[in-house]
Amino acid sequence: MGRILIVDDEPHTRRVLALNLRQDQHEVAECAGVQEARKALVAEDFDVVLTDQKMPDGDGLQVLATAIEANPTVSVVIITAFATVDLAVESMRQGAFDFITKPFQPEVVRAAVSRACERTRLRRENVLLKDIVVHLEGSPEIYGSSAAMQAVRELIGRVAPTNVTVLITGETGTGKELVARAIHKNSPRAAKPFVAVNCAAFTETLLESELFGHEKGAFTGAHQYRQGLFEAAHQGTLFLDEVAEMSPAAQAKLLRVVTDGQVVRVGSTQPRKVDVRLLAATHRDLAQRVSEGLFRQDLYYRLAVVPIAIPPLRERREDIATLSELFLRQTALELKLPKRTIIPQAIEKLKRYDFPGNVRELQNLIERASILSSGSELGAENFPVPLSSDRSGAQGGSPGAPSVPLADVLPEVNDLRNFLAEVEKTLILRTLKSTNGAQAEAARRLGISRSDLGYKIAKYGISDPEQ
Ligand SMILES: Nc1ncnc2c1ncn2[C@@H]1O[C@H](COP(=O)(O)OP(=O)(O)OP(=O)(O)O)[C@@H](O)[C@H]1O
Ligand SMILES: [Mg+2]
Repeated sequence: MGRILIVDDEPHTRRVLALNLRQDQHEVAECAGVQEARKALVAEDFDVVLTDQKMPDGDGLQVLATAIEANPTVSVVIITAFATVDLAVESMRQGAFDFITKPFQPEVVRAAVSRACERTRLRRENVLLKDIVVHLEGSPEIYGSSAAMQAVRELIGRVAPTNVTVLITGETGTGKELVARAIHKNSPRAAKPFVAVNCAAFTETLLESELFGHEKGAFTGAHQYRQGLFEAAHQGTLFLDEVAEMSPAAQAKLLRVVTDGQVVRVGSTQPRKVDVRLLAATHRDLAQRVSEGLFRQDLYYRLAVVPIAIPPLRERREDIATLSELFLRQTALELKLPKRTIIPQAIEKLKRYDFPGNVRELQNLIERASILSSGSELGAENFPVPLSSDRSGAQGGSPGAPSVPLADVLPEVNDLRNFLAEVEKTLILRTLKSTNGAQAEAARRLGISRSDLGYKIAKYGISDPEQ
């Protein structure tokens, strides 16, 4: 079954065609002329277009041209009472899939439309596969054919062979770590270590000893000397994730390493030379943090020599089909599930969702749907997500936002900072309770990164939510 557009100026013919096609469970839309068809084709994706040749405001070949321009994988069938060999040849040359003469036998049309649907399906699959192959050749693991992702891959290709510091920015789950790993993999340092450190996961002093190492007795509990991650990443790449969360003291030390390539362990004065390529990432606007005085400007310039900004998934919805296909195959392989397909309506639904958790959220949705569904196809009902155009409400429509205006339910506040912290802590605790303490799931539900949640848990001193 597919989505079919019938274009014919005679209402009777349209009715007969529609009746017949609906018997095969196709979804049918009708247009009475070329102009109307143009609008429909631009607004919606059809699998098959069934068009009359001669109409008062134009002809079937014009519909054919518009249909292919709007969607190159569509299959167009032309029906005409004025069949000539010339017209048949010309329509095929311009990309029509089939050509039927009036008066037609309903079975002939039904069979032609079934074949056309199948051909469209195969062509779409092919486009996806080609897309995947192209990416395997470039930066293997980074999928998506949107202009934005092509630009990201191109940038990776350019910076990978060099030693420049790259600042990767993007919302949670957009693929920042993936990009960092791709840069390392494609660099001359690929055979040396890639060390990732999440700056949000440590307290101030721990982060310093983690990064730069410490001498025996440098602080209480430092019974042994310890090599830092800079030394561990010698000749390789060090990835500073959530770099915006670094304390001022750690920032100052980091600046020293970046400027003179030397680390000094905590509790020592002895500088050690290290050869490390730095990559950094943050989900925050680091320039903004600089202007707020929370991040050192000199360090910012050192880190953001080449910035790579990964746009949120909702700003590159054309990547959703390719990524869904990829995660579907990955999930099937990893979990040894039977091979499934996602029907186009489900993809259409996903394309209308805003994905606050970006690519990671899409990955989770596909995984969950694969596990929970028993059929061979994943349909729209397997993805229970709110659609962006369905959202409403005074709070800007964030998922789960209350329908009562916030102003009506909030108390008088005389200490905003504390109040907001209390609200944040309460929501985190509530979510952790509902996930039985599972932090990854809680982070996903809250639409924040796992590391951000870890950071907040430490900040609020939340220990075990079960207690
Ligand atoms: N373009 C892509 N192609 C294939 N997989 C992707 C792509 N982008 C993201 N992913 C996958 O999505 C998941 C999230 O990516 P990643 O961990 O790199 O995001 P992140 O930006 O570092 O997130 P966070 O801010 O939460 O740390 C990973 O499993 C990653 O492999
Ligand atoms: Mg990350």
